[in-house]
Amino acid sequence: MISIAIVVVSDRSYRKEREDLSGKAIEEWARSRGYSVVEFCIVPDEREVIAQTLRDLCAKNINCILTTGGTGFAPRDVTPEATADVIERYAPGFAEAMRHASLAITKHAMLSRAIAGIRGSSIIINLPGSPKAVVENLEVIQDALLHAVKLLQGQVKDCAHE
Ligand code: MTE
Repeated sequence: MISIAIVVVSDRSYRKEREDLSGKAIEEWARSRGYSVVEFCIVPDEREVIAQTLRDLCAKNINCILTTGGTGFAPRDVTPEATADVIERYAPGFAEAMRHASLAITKHAMLSRAIAGIRGSSIIINLPGSPKAVVENLEVIQDALLHAVKLLQGQVKDCAHE
């Protein structure tokens, strides 16, 4: 059973000025795949708050931490920087694949500065902020994500025979 933490990064959702739909979209996706959503946080677009939230979640050995929002060009979009502050190893393939596939849907996909990486035994992946973008991007990465979790847990010894 894969454990998932969801981190919604949005000043307005944090202040309860806007209903969160993207975190809920991730939750729905996770449940539809039989994954266990063990944490759900809404944080403001503050680099150190985001980074500390990610550190705390990784300390709980959650398999995968999915952030949504704050990956664009707006002045307060700092989710990729906060993620870079905490990851120990980059996993660029996730963001490369998401941007590549998303460009076929919208040219604005090139405005996502999302990154992904590993801290301890957790994978952190940035997703864009809209519910539509969340679903489109999760569809791209979901098969590789399962394999990545198995690798990090030491459940796959030989990729060639998976
Ligand atoms: N990717 C997909 N698949 N679908 C989308 O609608 N929106 C883009 C991009 N990636 C989008 C997408 C837009 S408009 C922006 S600005 C960036 O993600 C960053 O989004 P964020 O600032 O909400 O994180």
